Amino acid sequence: KVLILDFGSQVTQLIARRVRDAHVLSEVHPCDVTDDWVRAYAADGHLKGVILSGSHASVYEETTDRCPQAVFDLGVPVLGICYGMQTMAQQLGGKVEGGQTREFGAAAVRAHGHTALLKDIVDFTTPEGHGMLNVWMSHGDKVTELPPGFKLMASTDSCPIAGMADEDRRYYALQFHPEVTHTVQGQAILDRFVLDICAARPDWVMHDHVAEAVAKIREQVGDEEVILGLSGGVDSSVAAALIHRAIGDQLTCVFVDHGLLRLNEGDLVMEMFVGKLHAKVIRVDASDLFLGKLAGVSDPEAKRKIIGGEFVTVFKQEAAKLTSAGAKGAKWLAQGTIYPDVIESGGAKSKKAVTIKSHHNVGGLPEQLGLKLLEPLRDLFKDEVRELGVALGLPHAMVYRHPFPGPGLGVRILGEVKKEYAELLRRADDIFIQELRNFTDQSTGKSWYDLTSQAFTVFLPVKSVGVMGDGRTYEYVVALRAVQTSDFMTADWAELPYALLKKVSGRIINEVRGINRVTYDVSSKPPATIEWE
Ligand code: XMP
Repeated sequence: KVLILDFGSQVTQLIARRVRDAHVLSEVHPCDVTDDWVRAYAADGHLKGVILSGSHASVYEETTDRCPQAVFDLGVPVLGICYGMQTMAQQLGGKVEGGQTREFGAAAVRAHGHTALLKDIVDFTTPEGHGMLNVWMSHGDKVTELPPGFKLMASTDSCPIAGMADEDRRYYALQFHPEVTHTVQGQAILDRFVLDICAARPDWVMHDHVAEAVAKIREQVGDEEVILGLSGGVDSSVAAALIHRAIGDQLTCVFVDHGLLRLNEGDLVMEMFVGKLHAKVIRVDASDLFLGKLAGVSDPEAKRKIIGGEFVTVFKQEAAKLTSAGAKGAKWLAQGTIYPDVIESGGAKSKKAVTIKSHHNVGGLPEQLGLKLLEPLRDLFKDEVRELGVALGLPHAMVYRHPFPGPGLGVRILGEVKKEYAELLRRADDIFIQELRNFTDQSTGKSWYDLTSQAFTVFLPVKSVGVMGDGRTYEYVVALRAVQTSDFMTADWAELPYALLKKVSGRIINEVRGINRVTYDVSSKPPATIEWE
């Protein structure tokens, strides 16, 4: 395995992710572990190498964080990245100085020397004799003097020592960040380090993560009871399945049905978690409560606040029952927080981030309930969470679902939410999703559900005239929305086949009495948003 020492960079988990992508087991530990800890950690002979992360601190100003000296005595390869390079340089006898200018962003780096790290990754057969790397830089300080035994590996005009290596001792260091995707050859460099230089075995698969995570949860929780808010979404479902695998009946899931879920969703969640996994799930049917509170409210933000607020109230009531059950009362609140949520909550809080938090991550609740927090997916990225879900035996269709907003159909019924509208919308939306799954794109062999990032139906509370048989109709309108996006910050409307749209509109108008017109939303984001509210 590979040890990653974390000096507090925002992107340390990205290093771990890249190492997992190389199918090598890695563990992230804080940089201030002791020398004894390091020696004990390496004692079983499984440690193949160490990576020192970046930091937002400066090597000689804001922090005195240093790599435990024992790391350099283990005889295993060490890779320092950014701050990790600077502390390595300083600890091994080189010099680091504060830069006059901060360097941040894309940079072209000249690679010198045919080190084992860059061999075959960089083309050195250029007339100038040095190859180029397109990288991501983010630093203020820089190494100004190589430590004894090191040779120059990379440089830029503003950073003459952007990479260095002591190949005898197998120490390598990069001022740029190989772990971010902007560094084009980054994965190749990290692959080279862990697979070739460290010779770590590439036998790690997501399945192994189940065993590791299960062991960790058992150790953390002991024989105490855990509560988890199950929403039916990917993250809370995978968290529930994982924790259930670890501690079985010590876990109780609370599933709050706010009446704004998709067709049969509540039943499907119960069937999966109670029927198949035999987990304990308390289903709270709060639809009347939510619809009551939403009556007469048409402002989108007010609706979001009500739904988020009520959710917390209902969840708290259920949790209070479970925590007050004497000595056996629950001591832990589990959440399906994933790594992007961790980053997001550290950054600017948009109105949506707050809503997402209050709904899915039930922000602030653990303290209010006096509970400890259990977040077993905290270090994983979305695609890894999905892979883990599959490894845990959750159905592919559940794990690869489109995202569904916390307020659910509440933001897909424009204006005031009524039970009648929710029922019409649920049925229309179900037809749309069914047909997206049914229609396959010939060139890719994929269903249109898998070819779109998010697709749903929006209920418009306006009536339009139609004709059916001999009669005139005067009924509601729905809009179909399907988008393609990689990050949900920008999105294009999907060019669905006409045959698919035709089938969906025919079925909705014929099967859902009360809707006589179907439209397709051809707005991209920006300037429109994905949801209509
Ligand atoms: P927009 O509409 O802003 O949506 O383009 C971007 C993504 O965020 C989801 N979304 C929400 N998720 N609570 C959530 O949990 C919300 O209030 C909320 N509003 C939007 C939306 O479904 C899309 O995936």
